[in-house]
Amino acid sequence: MKHGFKQSGTVFVLLPAVCLLLSVPAAAADRLIIRADQGKETIAPEVYGHFAEHLGRCIYEGFWVGEDSEIPNIGGIRTDVVEALRKLQIPVLRWPGGCFADEYHWKEGIGPRPKRPSMVNTHWGMVTETNAFGTHEFLHLCEMLDCEAYIAGNVGSGTVEEMQDWVEYMTFDGVSEMADLRRANGREQPWKIKYFGVGNENWGCGGNMTPEYYSDLYKRYATYVRNYSGNRLLKIACGPGGVDYHWMEVVMKNCHRHMDAIAQHYYVRGTGTWGHNQKGSATQFDEKEWFALMKNTLEVDEVIRRVKGIMDKYDSRKRVALYVDEWGTWWDGEPGSHPGFLYQQNTLRDALSAAIFLNVFNDHCDRVKMGNIAQTVNVLQAMILTKDDQMIVTPTYHVFEMYKHHQGATMLPAELTCEDYAFDRQTIPGLHASASKRTDGAVIVSLCNLNPNRPAPLECTLDGFQAAGAEGRVLTAETMQAHNTFDKPDTVKPAALKDIQVKDGKVHVTLPARSVAVLTITEKAD
Ligand code: AHR
Repeated sequence: MKHGFKQSGTVFVLLPAVCLLLSVPAAAADRLIIRADQGKETIAPEVYGHFAEHLGRCIYEGFWVGEDSEIPNIGGIRTDVVEALRKLQIPVLRWPGGCFADEYHWKEGIGPRPKRPSMVNTHWGMVTETNAFGTHEFLHLCEMLDCEAYIAGNVGSGTVEEMQDWVEYMTFDGVSEMADLRRANGREQPWKIKYFGVGNENWGCGGNMTPEYYSDLYKRYATYVRNYSGNRLLKIACGPGGVDYHWMEVVMKNCHRHMDAIAQHYYVRGTGTWGHNQKGSATQFDEKEWFALMKNTLEVDEVIRRVKGIMDKYDSRKRVALYVDEWGTWWDGEPGSHPGFLYQQNTLRDALSAAIFLNVFNDHCDRVKMGNIAQTVNVLQAMILTKDDQMIVTPTYHVFEMYKHHQGATMLPAELTCEDYAFDRQTIPGLHASASKRTDGAVIVSLCNLNPNRPAPLECTLDGFQAAGAEGRVLTAETMQAHNTFDKPDTVKPAALKDIQVKDGKVHVTLPARSVAVLTITEKAD
């Protein structure tokens, strides 16, 4: 493998039932060799990005409570949520969808709020969308979070003119109808917008198009997504969901010269196939479903490898980036919640899945330049859940907080040899890992112990690095199903990793069963 990790179980992976007993002696430590002197690629901070859609209670209640709310807010945006998210150092936020993007008409979401027309959110529950949260509110939120804005434009039901106007409205500092309208709405200076998506899931909710038809539309719409007043937009084409390699092939072939990035969506769950029903409970599951989620999540590595192979054919210089701009777990909605709102709980299992995803993105950072977990608040694999004025953070939030040290660091290749995790005559590697070197010289190692039953002693060797000190934090809980609730908000939270020591330049650590850990390893001072 050119970059990144060799993740492997025992040499007996293909014959697990026969050989497991013979594989690694019980006391043997798993081993990780980090090539600390061979890092080349930077992990783009945007890999740790987020996504907020007008869906269920993500925007309304999650972010937006309105200026008159008793819930503390700044300009209508709740401060508790912003404060919690700032601790994650969110680099980029994608909005307004999702499927909502291709039925959103931005001009309905500007101007005095009482005068804004309402619409029906036909994709997500047929509820009334008041348009109280629009362009100005979103860009204010990005300023509060200190993150880049990623706007998803409407190809499915919008016009080219509408898309062009939106960009002009946000970014032009001269005199024009759109720039003057922005000023009339209270914003003198244009915003800097970095990312603009030309449609979303146009193979499905964004218009049910063929890749050939979308390619033509992409080029037409993207032509008029202009750079005004020194603002440089990166244009993002709609890529596939799941494993539709044909879509990727056709759109790359036809459009690669006209795009800066192409999007990939990848959702996972425990068992079953894609579809909108019976995805399994977020909290009521057994080891079979735990194992299935770990296995399904690990498969994203192979999917990205194949997508990169297609991209390499048309763009061998890697000018076009891959953005996994929707990813995460997708379960049945919480009992009693609106089925169109996608409100789900979030357990330690979700945390492990997120950590594997992020390790894989780090590993492919030569091409994967952005990731946006779905979604930030109250929807799917959320960081935050709210109930009226209460707010809790989820196990997945803690993974993002622990992993933030990888943002902007140099990815380090490494090889992992570990005992398999076997269940029901199937096996997967018991551990998963990623390493990087921070700009201050510290090595960051993120580790997942996928096995819910076995603590894993691990020995880390760092080539070209004199390890002198190591500390770590770990996220685990007594059960696989552990999660935070409004009554018990701290059931799953990180703790200091006690079992860690440096001996003869090697780092020895024991990872608790079903855990995510992040180590910071420092070198001897000269
Ligand atoms: O994140 C929820 C939905 O999943 C998005 O709206 C859509 O793009 C995807 O199918």
